[in-house]
Amino acid sequence: MTGNDEVRGLLGSLRVYLEELRESGVDGLPYGTPETVSTPAGEKQRESLDDIRTNLGECGRCQLGKTRTNLVFGVGNPEARLVFVGEAPGRDEDLQGEPFVGEAGQLLTKIIQAMGFRREEVYICNVLKCRPPNNRNPQPSEVEQCHPFMLRQVKAIGPAVVVALGTFAAQTLLQTKEPISRLRGRFHDYHGIPLMPTFHPAFLLRNAEKKREVWEDMQQVMRLLGKDALQKKDG
Ligand code: URA
Repeated sequence: MTGNDEVRGLLGSLRVYLEELRESGVDGLPYGTPETVSTPAGEKQRESLDDIRTNLGECGRCQLGKTRTNLVFGVGNPEARLVFVGEAPGRDEDLQGEPFVGEAGQLLTKIIQAMGFRREEVYICNVLKCRPPNNRNPQPSEVEQCHPFMLRQVKAIGPAVVVALGTFAAQTLLQTKEPISRLRGRFHDYHGIPLMPTFHPAFLLRNAEKKREVWEDMQQVMRLLGKDALQKKDG
């Protein structure tokens, strides 16, 4: 093999790698790899949630920056074994700057507790960090800008499991149009991390009969985490 063939081979592999990154939502490369930052001594370290928050700044990358009250970054344990990802902040979250604090959030907190965790032990965030006006559906350009930050948060935390709450989060993270009813109930791969899609708590508020399926999904998550429930979930 000549030197030129080797270079062509390397460039081919690099192109495939960059295409994979783009498909997974990365639209540009920082100076380090997405999961690392350089220390003053020049060593590579996994980036922290604080680094990512600083990098976001007073974000105006999409139009939602103009209408939000607060940017809702995420809340919880930076070393959580379990991460929940929802769609986008609603009115309560926009006002308080914290994800899942409204009625759906209170139900999520109950689910977390039924799984044997405290809310502070897990990490909770959304695909979008800013509220779409009147809770309209997120637009593709907004997801394109925002999803890479959520992926960086997940990589910084390094959880054992991610739970995607609802159609939008599940379809965005898994890059699919399959309905949530077909996606839920089994683990999928999200950048090497097992991901369990399940129904959104807001959907459960309107469809209480679906709670049983969510509890089955959460039991699979608990088994994977080697976790016993503190209480039996029956309502
Ligand atoms: N719904 C979501 O998807 N996320 C929130 O933070 C609140 C409601």
